[in-house]
Amino acid sequence: MALRKAIVAGNWKMNNLVAEAVALAEEVRSSLGQVRTVDVAVCPTYTSLYAVGKALEGSLIQLGAQDAYIKPSGAFTGEISPQMLLDVGCMWTIIGHSERRHVLGESDALQNAKTRFALSSGLKVMFCIGELLDERKANITNKVLERQLTLGLAGLSPENLENVVIAYEPVWAIGTGETASPEQAEEAHVFIRGWVAKVFGDASASQMRIQYGGSVTPKTVEGLFEKENIDGFLVGGASLKPVDFAVIVQACA
Ligand code: PGA
Repeated sequence: MALRKAIVAGNWKMNNLVAEAVALAEEVRSSLGQVRTVDVAVCPTYTSLYAVGKALEGSLIQLGAQDAYIKPSGAFTGEISPQMLLDVGCMWTIIGHSERRHVLGESDALQNAKTRFALSSGLKVMFCIGELLDERKANITNKVLERQLTLGLAGLSPENLENVVIAYEPVWAIGTGETASPEQAEEAHVFIRGWVAKVFGDASASQMRIQYGGSVTPKTVEGLFEKENIDGFLVGGASLKPVDFAVIVQACA
């Protein structure tokens, strides 16, 4: 808390038609559009990016996508490139969200290729990792996080890392209403920061912003944000409710 500039992002997932997304963006803009002490981003679906970007123009709210492919263009039916995302005003993309990994079956290697290509294209990346409930119960949380970090961030330089935020999102807490306790989250964040220090050095580790994600709400945000290694949030369900999202951002301001 307060060591690094907090970053709170709304992951709107596969929700909202364009008009609904624009209305939500306008509400977010009117409550948070001038907040300077926290980086605030929203990540609508691809189909709403352009319109939401227009609705946010001139505000401080940043635009992000939920995924990005590993090629600039070509015969990749259904995919969207970082170049296309930059073209509609994105600064960020989420990579490695647990729903990509576990619902769509995407590998660590693919997350690595996506991360590297997004960064080399000029996007910033929110790189998500997190353990399944069975993995936590089997006491292998750190092993899982280490694997996801090692494979997912392979080949990056410390300079690349300046454009990366890591989101720790325990899969059992995503969309379940069950939040990790501040202690559980902090323990994972300490492990992640230690890994960054070991691989990229102390300077990268102390600058790295690590978000927590998984059923964050106005009720749980304060306890989590008190922890030294929690630098913001990746918010799903609560980011669709503009008042809740504003409370979460203000708690980090
Ligand atoms: P949730 O989603 O806040 O609805 O749990 C978080 C996420 O998946 O990023």
